[in-house]
Amino acid sequence: MILRRLLLPIAALCASTALSAQGPDPLAPTGRWSAYRGGQADLPPMGWNSWNAFFTEIDEEKLLGSAQRILDSGLAQKGYRYINIDDGWWLKRRTSDGRLMIRTEQFPSARMAHGDPSFRPLTDRLHAMGFRAGIYSDLGRNICSQAYSTGKAQLPEGTMAEREVGLYGHIDQDIRLFFADWGFDAIKVDGCGIRAFAADAERVRNGQYRALPPLIDQASTSRSDIPAVKALFADINKALARHNPDGGYLLSLCIWGSANVRGWGKDVGNISRTSDDIAPNWSRMLTNYDSAVRRALYAHPGSWNDPDMLFIGAGDFDAQHLTEARSHFALWAMMNAPLLIGADLRQTPQPLLDIFGNAALIAVDQDPAGNQAVIAFDSDGLQILVKTLSNGDKAVALFNRGMAPVDAVLTADHLKFRADRDIALSDLWTGAKSIFSKETKLHVEPRETLVFRASGQRQLADGVYLSERPGIVNPAVDGVVQPQPDPTIYRSIPGWRSTRGIGERPIYAGWGGAMPDATPYNQPLTVAGRTFASGIGILANSRLEVRNEGFTRFTAQVGVDDSADDGGQPVRFFLYGDGKPMASTPPLRRGTAATALSADVKGVAIIELVARADGVSGNAVPVSWGDAALHR
Ligand code: GLA
Repeated sequence: MILRRLLLPIAALCASTALSAQGPDPLAPTGRWSAYRGGQADLPPMGWNSWNAFFTEIDEEKLLGSAQRILDSGLAQKGYRYINIDDGWWLKRRTSDGRLMIRTEQFPSARMAHGDPSFRPLTDRLHAMGFRAGIYSDLGRNICSQAYSTGKAQLPEGTMAEREVGLYGHIDQDIRLFFADWGFDAIKVDGCGIRAFAADAERVRNGQYRALPPLIDQASTSRSDIPAVKALFADINKALARHNPDGGYLLSLCIWGSANVRGWGKDVGNISRTSDDIAPNWSRMLTNYDSAVRRALYAHPGSWNDPDMLFIGAGDFDAQHLTEARSHFALWAMMNAPLLIGADLRQTPQPLLDIFGNAALIAVDQDPAGNQAVIAFDSDGLQILVKTLSNGDKAVALFNRGMAPVDAVLTADHLKFRADRDIALSDLWTGAKSIFSKETKLHVEPRETLVFRASGQRQLADGVYLSERPGIVNPAVDGVVQPQPDPTIYRSIPGWRSTRGIGERPIYAGWGGAMPDATPYNQPLTVAGRTFASGIGILANSRLEVRNEGFTRFTAQVGVDDSADDGGQPVRFFLYGDGKPMASTPPLRRGTAATALSADVKGVAIIELVARADGVSGNAVPVSWGDAALHR
């Protein structure tokens, strides 16, 4: 980047935002936490959504039936609070004033004796039952069912203009209607309207819908207009703030991992979809899980990864497949994913309700520290995930992805616990308790996920490794300037295409993003031959924000990672406290021994970790913040 080449090293140490002719320097410290703080999502949302069970054929009876079952079964008390309407609720947009009309045939309570249809009676009812209510819309003029549904069921009706029910051109008007007038508490914003209505799309060519040049190409980040998509979300953010003076809303982004949203969704919404739709089959669940599981540093209280709604209750996750259903639930809980039930709860058998109601796993998902699990052992067959809980315990999951049983060895190192002290395990499915030291053998059946709460003595006695606390680490700038598809995501057969075409190639950008305990390209963190079991891997030309929760000292061993292709590129490392310079290194190159970088951070709220490689254009070199830790 020319900008970076122009900056003198001293400019990097300036406390205020460095400015050059090219604009603000993205690596200049801000002293702020920049991930999304609007709305209400200190914990991942829990609740129910109509889509997986009913698709567009939603009505009031179905919705209230599931809501009632959530109350009666005790799930409401366990935290399931959102009742969300998905696609299928619109009748049309009234063209005289742009007001949206509801399908009162399906939602009779919306019919008013005087005046326009309103969802207010329904949201009042849900609120009286103790729930929050969610609505659904789209960034474009048209919506997903108009792009993809094969039948006519509950599609908007009327003229072409009347069938334009999406937010495009109506953001303020619609958000006001949903939140101020109708009393909703949450909105899911889909993106088909800015993806599927190109001039040459069949449904546009045959005159059904008006063309809107796509801003998103799901198969290609470079063909997506990322600034334009972000600008639409910025307008939505403003409208949400305007029409929710108490801040009581939830914004769910649904652009399916496209447009590199896995890198920036955390900055504009409360939950953000990391992949295309889940389906009730094992391989599709793997795709969705993989799209989120390496993104721990991109999830925090207020901004969570969303691998899509639960599909427990159907197909490979029905009552005949309890092993698979339990795995699906446990994995979502380990990733602090939203727990949105997608089943018709009026018909859901008790063993599946018991999965939704597993209080110990709900507590893992809802742990206030908000640390998404980190991969401690990785293979295509078995993975071990570890999630640091707010009391210092760890939740640990052993996930067998394959078709053969695995005799796994769980070690104290996986947990970052001392090997010479007892480690107590409590099985979150059975409640069984056990104790081990150093390591223990565990038999994991095909598709099974064992999950435990583990307590032991931490390896780092006086503090935490940053990689144990992804919830307080935000890659504000992750160094990825040329987004590349992530090759580690399981490629299933898309149900909607079958085996037509060439199959799904890697499509979800995000490869090269910041990683806990691994380099951006998923290698062990290694500087000049020294490997670090703990640390943060990131590309140079990056800035990490770290919330300091009362710690007094930051320490790390930093350097250019041995996996860097360019061995000659110098990188400097800088530490800032609340925007002020605290420490830095001289230029380091690949092969230079890891260099100690530390600072007194007592009283500092936000620590920033910057790595600069002046003169590099494109994706910069991998650097390692080895053993990066906060100490009491
Ligand atoms: C998209 C979304 C789904 C659902 C449908 C509704 O496919 O990803 O979650 O909302 O649209 O049509």
